Amino acid sequence: MSLKMPETVLLGTGYEVPEKILTNHDLEKMVDTNDQWIQERTGIKERRIASSDLTTSELCTRAARKALQDANLQPEDIDLILIGTVTGDALFPSTACYVQEKLGACNAAAMDLQAACAGFLYVSTVADAFIISGKAKVVLAIGGEILSRIVDWNDRSTCVLFGDGAGAAIWGAANDSGKGIIDTYMKSDGRLTELLCSYGGGTNYPMQEAIEKNVQFIQMQGQEVFKSAVRAMSEAVLTILKKNDLTGDDIDVLIPHQANIRIMNATVRKTKIDENKVYVNVDRFGNTSAASIPIALAEARQSGAIKAGQLVLLVSFGGGFTWGSLLLQL
Ligand code: ACO
Repeated sequence: MSLKMPETVLLGTGYEVPEKILTNHDLEKMVDTNDQWIQERTGIKERRIASSDLTTSELCTRAARKALQDANLQPEDIDLILIGTVTGDALFPSTACYVQEKLGACNAAAMDLQAACAGFLYVSTVADAFIISGKAKVVLAIGGEILSRIVDWNDRSTCVLFGDGAGAAIWGAANDSGKGIIDTYMKSDGRLTELLCSYGGGTNYPMQEAIEKNVQFIQMQGQEVFKSAVRAMSEAVLTILKKNDLTGDDIDVLIPHQANIRIMNATVRKTKIDENKVYVNVDRFGNTSAASIPIALAEARQSGAIKAGQLVLLVSFGGGFTWGSLLLQL
């Protein structure tokens, strides 16, 4: 038996977004807003919206099939399925169990993890812990959301921000590969829960009561969330760099949570990372919460925007508050 810990390497990625595109001009017909305001404040031009018959598990399953194909693996090879989501198919069972059934991943354990927009970083950190401890060899980590179902389409301050989608990564055990997850950093601050939340259907506000009190949708104090997001994402970047004796210059590509271009720009300024190293797709997908980083990661690999041998830094922030970073040698 080897005492050396395995590395966690990225074996494959895939993403799936709904076909329907909702542009800022479409939103102008729904609420009192305009394309210029949305683009200037957020950088978003359009987002994808799931049709009423599409479920989060279906989006996640489609993303997972692409990731499996990319990794050249079969569903039976998966030991663990982890899904970061705040918009699962049901309160229970977990969306991960639905995905397991749809994939036919009969050898896997499956569970959801709730860390809002930081969901994919959290599930990838757990995947890393399972792999380096020898408890799993192949982990399917997914971030998937249908936020359009919990957005108030009459509230212009939130409905312009969000979109639907799913992204998947296959993390696998390797030995002496010289690549993989170098480090992870994960934090929460539960004192700030009320700045960004959705109460509908929980035990505090069962769905009927939530509807009566009109608290079933996403609620957000935008400016406070903005400031906290910049502060936390900058901290997550600087902490993981310092811990690994690196500076922003050593990073080839930064993939931040795609919430808002101004949050990304402010984070880059505070951490002194070259803005040309930042991967951005918020203009086309909006904020897809837990799905935003794995969609960006999969898209960047597919397009060649990130390549083998590069050092990639993922950083995210979400409701809770939750935040974190992940340093990856491709
Ligand atoms: N169109 C036009 N006007 C609008 C809209 C809209 N869609 N939404 C709000 N306004 C108005 C407001 O009513 C307000 O009008 P008033 O001055 O007459 O009262 C004015 O615009 C300014 O509103 P603010 O809320 O101060 O606008 P701000 O510059 O803060 O931008 C925004 C709002 C974009 C939400 C910003 O606060 C933000 O990006 N916050 C971060 C939120 C975020 O990204 N959340 C995602 C979840 S968390 C995460 O993923 C990290």
